Parts: sequence; C-alpha cells; structure tokens
Amino acid sequence: MTILVTGGAGFIGSNLVNFLASENQVVVIDDLSMGKIENLDKSFNIEFIKGSVTDNILMKKLLKEKHFDYIFHLAAIASVADSVENPIKTHKVNFDSVFLLLELIRKYQKSLQRLVFSSSAAVYGDEVSLPKKEKSVIRPLTAYAIDKFAAERFVLMYSNLYKVPTSVVRFFNVYGPKQNPSSPYSGVISIMMDCFLKIQTNIEAKFTLFGNGKQSRDFVFVEDVLKALMLVSKSNSAIGEVYNVGTGHAVTLLDLISIIEKTLGFKLPVIYEDLRLGDISESLADISKLQTLGYKPANTISRGIDKYIKYLTSSNGYIFE
Ligand code: NAD
Ligand code: UD1
Repeated sequence: MTILVTGGAGFIGSNLVNFLASENQVVVIDDLSMGKIENLDKSFNIEFIKGSVTDNILMKKLLKEKHFDYIFHLAAIASVADSVENPIKTHKVNFDSVFLLLELIRKYQKSLQRLVFSSSAAVYGDEVSLPKKEKSVIRPLTAYAIDKFAAERFVLMYSNLYKVPTSVVRFFNVYGPKQNPSSPYSGVISIMMDCFLKIQTNIEAKFTLFGNGKQSRDFVFVEDVLKALMLVSKSNSAIGEVYNVGTGHAVTLLDLISIIEKTLGFKLPVIYEDLRLGDISESLADISKLQTLGYKPANTISRGIDKYIKYLTSSNGYIFE
C-alpha cells in the first residue's frame, strides 16, 4: 500500500508512520514547525517531503503524481492556545489545508480507499453533558475547535456528495513517546514529564498549573490511538462516519500529577496561574461507537504513564507491544 501521512513527523504522525512503514510505502509531508525528522525511523524507506500542506502548488503536484491507498491528514497547529493567539494563521493550516486536500483527492485520487481526518474533542466545547457522544451538542469555543468542526463537515460532505471515502476521528487528549514538550502550548503530559525528568537529573524546574488542577481530561495513550486509526481506516462501515477516540475514563490534572509522583517517587513543584482563555473544564469520551469496530483501549492512565516513563528513561528506547 502507498500511504500519505501529513504532519507525519509530529507526535501522533511519526508513531503512525513508523508503525505503517514496515509493511507499506509511506510518504510524509511536514513543515517541521513542531515535528522532527529524527522522529522517523531511519531503518524504513520513508519518503519525507519538507513543505506545507497549505502550499497549493506542492500539494497539487504530490496528489497528481502519486496514487495513494490511504491518506491520514494529521498536519495542524495542534495547540488550542496557539489558535487563541493567532486565529488567522491557524485557520490556514487547520481549515484551508483540509479543503484543498479534499478537492485534490476528488480530482486526482480515484483509487483512494480512505482519507482519515484528525479532528478533536475540542469541538464539544464546554457544553456540560458528559461523556461526549458523537451526537452530543457541538459548542466549539476557540478558532481551533471551530476550524476542526468546519473541516469535519467538509470531509463528510465530500463523502456524501462526491463519494470520496472519508472518515473523521475526534481525538481526546493523546499522550506518549515523541510528543514535543518544547512549546508552552504543548500537550500537558509532555510538559509535566519534561519537568519531572529535569528534576530527576538535578535541573531546577517547576510545573505551571493553569487553574486549580481540578479540570479533567480523557488521556489516551498513543498506542491505542494507532489501533483506532487502523480500525477506522480499514472498516467500510466507517465511511462517512465520525468516531471519538479516547478511553472512556477521565482524570484531573491533580490526580495525574500524583500518579506520576507515585511512579517516580518524588514531588513535582507546582506554580498556580489563572485558567487559560478557552480552556475546557471537563472532557470525557463515550467510545461505544468505536467499540463497535472492535476497539478496546489497552492502557489505563497508570499503564500508559509507566510505558511513557520507560521510553523516556531507557537508553534503547521503548518499543510498543
Ligand atoms: P503535532 O504538533 O506533534 O503534529 C502536527 C504536525 O503537523 C507537526 O509535525 C507539525 O510540524 C506539522 N505541521 C504543522 N503545520 C503544518 C503545515 N502547514 N504543513 C505541514 N505540516 C505541518 O501534534 P499531534 O499531537 O501529533 O496532532 C496530530 C493531529 O491530531 C492534529 O491534527 C491535531 O489537531 C490532532 N489532535 C491531537 C490531539 C492530541 O492530544 N495530541 C488531540 C486532538 C486532535
Ligand atoms: C488538547 C490538544 C488539542 C486537542 C484537545 C482535545 C495539545 C497541545 N492540545 O488540548 O490538540 O484538540 O486536547 O481534547 O495536545 N495545562 C497546564 N499547564 C501546562 C499546560 C497545560 O495546567 O503547562 C492545562 C491546560 O490549561 C488544560 C490542560 O492542562 O486545562 C490540558 O491542556 P493541553 O494539554 O494543552 O490540552 P487541551 O487544551 O485539552
């Protein structure tokens, strides 16, 4: 199979690419704004293109010249807070690139078996009912969430009107190896782990907690996310459908800190700051729709954190089961 992964040098993307590349030809396009080329396994024959998914000429050339069996569109500015700071810039990547890709697929990719678009739990916003079902009320609060929802609608419309085989996944909070902690807007577990590891090696570090730490998230280990992506992309009944990808369990940030503290055996120094603009207080997935495809998350938060710590602290790198 020939597979295109946009944003394939990023956190979820590189885990997916390394998983797929042992048995498939994988092409990656990434502008390396957050991703790293080192995330890609050198032992596989991965074709890497450094460029932007917003570059019409580059994307047209790519989709005209190559024929893909599967496309996973993961490229995005994944930080909600970034979209609050720079809504126009993030809109170009998080919405315009999806629309462009859909048109190019309609024109040039007649043998595509599936486009999987990575949306987000952020589309549900702060409407209070929990857990979130795919049919729950949508109340996006940020440019990031609005762009993801608008893009979802186009992705489904291309399936309905033009018979482009598409599926949408709404990731909840994904964590695990290769998540980049370098930006203050990076995923919270990667930032926490970075602090813990600095402290462990006697480098001074403090974790900034926005709010009182009682906000909760459905944190899902990236290994389970890959399983979800495989199930959705291979299932015919998933065409034109949307799936939550989470665990069905939520933890508060305070609980999360104490789980990591117990595993590592020392305390995390915390500074409290005001809640961030657009922050959601609670998030929890109903995963029953994905379960109908055979999905069963294998990692509780403790198990996932344990594996993540092993990966970060072992010299030969932890390999997924
Ligand atoms: P990430 O930032 O690690 O990956 C995104 C990748 O896209 C990066 O490698 C980045 O360099 C690349 N990129 C950004 N702009 C680009 C552009 N214009 N052209 C080409 N490449 C570009 O983030 P991630 O956590 O791996 O997220 C992957 C996808 O999943 C994103 O669409 C994100 O919105 C979505 N998502 C992630 C989470 C999560 O918890 N990590 C949750 C919900 C949805
Ligand atoms: C995350 C994803 C987003 C996805 C959404 C789905 C990232 C960077 N963002 O957003 O792409 O669409 O899940 O639910 O992966 N926090 C701190 N201190 C920090 C960093 C964060 O207290 O240093 C807090 C935040 O204020 C928030 C919580 O931790 O309350 C989670 O933040 P974050 O990891 O950025 O995720 P989301 O905003 O939920």
